[in-house]
Amino acid sequence: MLAQTPPMGWNSWNTFGWQISEDLIKETADAWKDQGLSDAGYEYLVIDDCWSEKQRSKDGHLVPDHNKFPGGMKAVADYVHSKGLKFGMYSCVGTMTCGRHPGSLDHEFEDALTFAEWGVDFLKYDYCYKPHNTPGHVLYKRMGMALKASGRDILFSACNWGSDNCHEWIRSTGAHMFRSTGDIQDNWESIKSIALSQWNKECYSAPYCYNDLDMLVVGMYGKGNVAKGGCTDEEYKTHFSLWCIMNSPLMIGCDIRSMNDTTRRILTNREVIGLCQDPEGRQAYSMEQWNNSAVKIYIKPLSDGSFGIGFFNMSDEEGEGSLQFWDMGLTASSGYGFKLRDLWEHEDVGVYDENYTCWLKPHHCKIYRAWLVKK
Ligand code: GAL
Repeated sequence: MLAQTPPMGWNSWNTFGWQISEDLIKETADAWKDQGLSDAGYEYLVIDDCWSEKQRSKDGHLVPDHNKFPGGMKAVADYVHSKGLKFGMYSCVGTMTCGRHPGSLDHEFEDALTFAEWGVDFLKYDYCYKPHNTPGHVLYKRMGMALKASGRDILFSACNWGSDNCHEWIRSTGAHMFRSTGDIQDNWESIKSIALSQWNKECYSAPYCYNDLDMLVVGMYGKGNVAKGGCTDEEYKTHFSLWCIMNSPLMIGCDIRSMNDTTRRILTNREVIGLCQDPEGRQAYSMEQWNNSAVKIYIKPLSDGSFGIGFFNMSDEEGEGSLQFWDMGLTASSGYGFKLRDLWEHEDVGVYDENYTCWLKPHHCKIYRAWLVKK
């Protein structure tokens, strides 16, 4: 079964855009293990848009760009597999991809077979150049069906940016994850607006079909295709924590060949990733505070009865995060409190009853795992 937990991997788009090649993909696959990504759970290496020639072959097949991928895609897939990784590719519901390469409209079944023959394990499926007279759910259903008919297990990653209320129907198409927002950029405003756009959409993410908040920008530092400004390390920590507590697939977007120690530490923090990869796959619920503080609180129920609790300061000023446990359902008369562990500091911080309060600098976060304990 695919996507029992939110898929984890790397995607070429955020840093490299159309500037992709066989060498880049091989070097990325080579760096993967040494950077600790396999141990942390990352497994899908995905090539995004602009990998093909601008025209199909005479017999209607997709053709890899001869300059970028001279050895063809089967060879790339074999290389990626030889490193113990899974291989992903990209196409689009429309006549063309967003980068104006051939899309899969009316070629769904043959393209799915082509991907299966090449050894593809993951397909990101975009929404550009979609015919107006065919509803999106039909086009996703068609490719979902074609992938199943291909005879290979191919994880189906829908990317329609949350259009047409896709969270209401996407699960029925066979998609294993679905983008619910427009494209991320490497800056704080983009991270904040994606995170806040999820308010009240908590119940649509679940095992086998996860709400995808877009590829990560952690470690881009203002360089690359979607780099508009860059972020501080604390902002990257907040970004990663938000994506993890909200169950998002974790697709790295920086150049993993040259990650610095901080980026590596953020992307491989197993205690934070543990919230994302919890087998019950419940998305966090969000909570306003009684004093309307700009510090947002997210709570993620976990399979062992504990909770992920995140405090996120979305404002440009210092702020207070104060969680009243009764808002989670825990009353003082229950006889229980919470034992808290700080997942960035990797230390237990004590047992609390009734409430927990912390102060956060602008754009900073605190993220805990909390276990119920008898007082
Ligand atoms: C966008 C998509 C991006 C990237 C890009 C490629 O529609 O949201 O993630 O895939 O197309 O052209």
